[in-house]
Amino acid sequence: MALRLGDIAPNFAAQTSVGPIDFYEYLGNSWGVLFSHPADYTPVCTTELGRTAALKEAFEKRNVKVLALSVDSLEKHAGWIGDINETQHTLVDFPIIADEDRSISHAYDMIHPNASETFTVRSLFIIGPDKKVKLMITYPASTGRNFNEVLRVIDSLQLTAKFSVATPADWKEGEDVIVVPAVSTAEAIQRFPKGVTVVKPYLRYTPQPNK
Ligand code: BEZ
Repeated sequence: MALRLGDIAPNFAAQTSVGPIDFYEYLGNSWGVLFSHPADYTPVCTTELGRTAALKEAFEKRNVKVLALSVDSLEKHAGWIGDINETQHTLVDFPIIADEDRSISHAYDMIHPNASETFTVRSLFIIGPDKKVKLMITYPASTGRNFNEVLRVIDSLQLTAKFSVATPADWKEGEDVIVVPAVSTAEAIQRFPKGVTVVKPYLRYTPQPNK
């Protein structure tokens, strides 16, 4: 059965561009981003992996480890990484999994037969330190993902894991957040000393509590 939000992300052993890894050991207590791409030596994927490498510090700052995956071989990964570094002016040093037997792709439901019987689609999973799936997105091969959005979601997930808040549409780090419905307005005033703005009884804003 396909993974759902809140499920435990399956552990796996993998051959990767940086050597063999055990997924859980690699993550340790960090957050994780595991994302698949259809194939090595393809243009959109080249830009996605370059962008991920360029955002290394942004991921590290958020205590996030990234792993890419395709069903191509380690040899293909090695040659392609050279191309990515050359064309995207980056240094790809995060693991790219060679899932040649497709065992990880199947465990994470990354192969969508109506898109392709053999190649992974652009799946992306954000996994919390508790190893639970916090977010899943799926893009078709023709559309590269927005990695600023991935960082934005990580900011929201990390904030809402700590405080009884939710983040509104298009929210960005530093902007006001929403008090969750489970917290009464009286309680919210106690919990959020920076102030609570009541627009409707169910729509209450407060400044981002950890800023
Ligand atoms: C790409 O990464 O450019 C790509 C891969 C598979 C199909 C279409 C585009």
